[in-house]
Amino acid sequence: MTSASTFPSADGLWTGLRLAPGAAPGTTPDADTEAAIAVAEGTVRWVGARSALPAEFAGLPPHDGGGALVTPGLVDCHTHLVYGGQRANEFAMRLAGASYEEVAKAGGGIVSSVRATREADEDALFAQAAPRLEQLLADGVCAIEIKSGYGLALEHERKQLRVARRLGEAYGVTVRTTFLGAHALPPEYAGRSGDYIDLVCNEMLPALAAEGLVDAVDVFCERIAFTLAETEQVFQAAKALGLPVKLHAEQLSDMGGAALAARYGALSCDHIEHLSAQGIEAMRQSGTVAVLLPGAYYTLRDTHLPPIEALRAAGVPMAVSTDHNPGTSPALSLLLMMNMACTLFRLTVPEAVAGVTLHAARALGLQKTHGAIAEGMPANFVLWNVRDAAELAYWFGQRPVRTVVRQGRIAVGAAQ
Ligand code: NIG
Ligand code: FE
Repeated sequence: MTSASTFPSADGLWTGLRLAPGAAPGTTPDADTEAAIAVAEGTVRWVGARSALPAEFAGLPPHDGGGALVTPGLVDCHTHLVYGGQRANEFAMRLAGASYEEVAKAGGGIVSSVRATREADEDALFAQAAPRLEQLLADGVCAIEIKSGYGLALEHERKQLRVARRLGEAYGVTVRTTFLGAHALPPEYAGRSGDYIDLVCNEMLPALAAEGLVDAVDVFCERIAFTLAETEQVFQAAKALGLPVKLHAEQLSDMGGAALAARYGALSCDHIEHLSAQGIEAMRQSGTVAVLLPGAYYTLRDTHLPPIEALRAAGVPMAVSTDHNPGTSPALSLLLMMNMACTLFRLTVPEAVAGVTLHAARALGLQKTHGAIAEGMPANFVLWNVRDAAELAYWFGQRPVRTVVRQGRIAVGAAQ
């Protein structure tokens, strides 16, 4: 593992670039015009057509982009990256015909990852998550959300969130932590869902928030998880602490979760295969991002498509994420998710690019610092060895990254 502090500075004038559509809102020359990016002290000072470069930046140390296409650093806005063990056995069960809900009811599913996560100490969890993070970073990820939710007890949720913070520091990547204590009912609370939600709201969340471990709060609102009323109780607790909320909403059924989340000004509603017209309208009004998770849809062999056309028509911003988790989406490539979002959900290429940059940043409340290349933002951008932005979604199993500038440093592809 390379320590982030050893990455060389990206300060200087980046030339020989072509901006992907939408990469630098407001200033975008087309992809056939040579673009330049001026970086000083880790911050973007200027971006635009090279021919329009202000003289004050012309003398900065040069970085030749070699004609690469450039996008903002990618943002993976929904992951469960920190957990113990893996669940390949469930993959086999599903291949033999069992559904996700059947596997969960048979004692597998989330609670089996809870067992393995509780058994692992912080260093073991870090060691297991680090190579997974490295895979995502190699695809150009510059910011990532990491949820808890496999501890389901204060000390174990704390362990997950602390590992998430440590990963951010070790790799020099922006990490947003999300407390997902209401992910599943821990076995010791079987039949006492209300007591567990009280614990989540009155003890776990306040303690973890006081320790600075919680950037947002999430709930799995579903038949096999928590009810709408329980979800609202958690949202109330988050609101009392001034924390933003998001929701695993309408993945397997329409619970009315999206409309509730919208009432609480949720940053995002995620999965949303069964999202209703009322849910879409509520999200539109509250400016909530729709996070599409094609990896889970694919793994579960789902056939109920999220209402893409209606979301598009309503102008609800759509993000795309890996949902990396050991049960339903063991995916470690955001580029592959772009491919799936286009192929399975019929997103257009510009929608898929915005889905892993601009809108994904907004789903994390990071729109001021991530998801675009813009003056005043930290330098987070990726140079790609492709001719066309469509190639980012078209290839799968390819890694056309040339250079990653992450938090003002050249994290991948520095000149030797
Ligand atoms: O986002 N939907 C709930 N949570 C995860 C799955 C977690 C698991 O199966 O371990 C998801 O798909
Ligand atoms: Fe998830």
